[in-house]
Amino acid sequence: MPKISIKGQNMPQSPIRKLVPFAEQAKKNGTKVYHLNIGQPDIKTPQVALDAVKNTNLEVLAYARSEGSETYRTKLVDYYAKNDINVNADNIVVTTGGSEALLFTFGSIMDVGDEVIIPEPFYANYNGFSTSSGVKVVPITSRIEDNFALPSISEFEKLITPKTRAILICNPGNPTGYLYSKEEIKQLAEIVKKHDLFLIADEVYREFTYDGLEHYSILQETGIEQNAIVIDSVSKRYSMCGARIGCIVSKNKEFISTTLKFAQARLSPPTYALIASEAALETPQSYFVDVIEEYDERRKTLITELEKIEGLKVAHPKGAFYCVAELPVKDSDDFAQWLLEEFNHNNETVMVAPASAFYSTKGEGKNQVRIAYVLKKEDLIRSVEILKEALKVYKD
Ligand SMILES: Cc1ncc(COP(=O)(O)O)c(C=O)c1O
Repeated sequence: MPKISIKGQNMPQSPIRKLVPFAEQAKKNGTKVYHLNIGQPDIKTPQVALDAVKNTNLEVLAYARSEGSETYRTKLVDYYAKNDINVNADNIVVTTGGSEALLFTFGSIMDVGDEVIIPEPFYANYNGFSTSSGVKVVPITSRIEDNFALPSISEFEKLITPKTRAILICNPGNPTGYLYSKEEIKQLAEIVKKHDLFLIADEVYREFTYDGLEHYSILQETGIEQNAIVIDSVSKRYSMCGARIGCIVSKNKEFISTTLKFAQARLSPPTYALIASEAALETPQSYFVDVIEEYDERRKTLITELEKIEGLKVAHPKGAFYCVAELPVKDSDDFAQWLLEEFNHNNETVMVAPASAFYSTKGEGKNQVRIAYVLKKEDLIRSVEILKEALKVYKD
């Protein structure tokens, strides 16, 4: 039989995927499963975006420009300006989701064997993008005890080698919900300047901040114009995960022109989705006010309910719509499977994401889970009740 590549063999599976058959079986057995494991918001997509696609009367569904249409990129400039980010259309390459933005970025700045430092726990697919780019992830562990704050600069400096090309952060963080302060961004700016590295910030959750805190983008920081690369996406902002539109933003011209070569090789981002994404920029501010208020209420409800569980520790998220909780169990992979396979409370159970997959260091996060608050309040309350009942009877 022809052989599969080593790279292909090494590609990590989605950490949640191995639990899916158990969730499916539970449902077949008549158990309702509350999905605390996913990042798919239940929020309605802005009508203006859906209508824009319905109202098009294209006769040819043609390729778009590789870097995204001029009109969309120009309107994006206004969007960024409203967020105090000063860029122009030439600083933007539109991609097929934030996922492709990450792939193009890795491809443009790193060769096989190069290293990227990432605070862990991190969005698990960074592992997949690294493997497909032949890049080594060097983790730096942030701790639940510190609410997952940025590890100290001296810890970063210990990890920098001649192969280090970049530091990648997710701000606000998936899975931690951590929002980096301006001071933390300034510290990162100092390191990347000192060691001549790229600073990649995945800011796909930019809008989702709470407690009156404001997001500070690396593109607002002066002096790192040549280092700073922002990864962006419409997926979460407008609850448009299926559109598959994102972008790369950077003032580094050589970097942008390199990503454009990757963009040209894949020809074009999806045309209908570009129409929807351009229209989504007209979304009234009231939409965001309502959505953030809804997530904020869910966040408060979830944390309050979780903290009632004895032996459970939870980091307080300040952004995005996830939190990481430490459970009084030895192995959250086993626990998550057991919840689906063996447990139910009044015919209902929950699906959580074991957090070990969000760490690159073996053994870290073993007793942690990621919980997404993408369900309505009543469902979150019920889910935590189920979790509490489960922990009463679960035996390691
Ligand atoms: C932190 C982070 N970055 C990037 C992505 C990729 O998003 P998309 O490719 O849908 O834009 C996700 C999706 O969940 C995410 O959580």
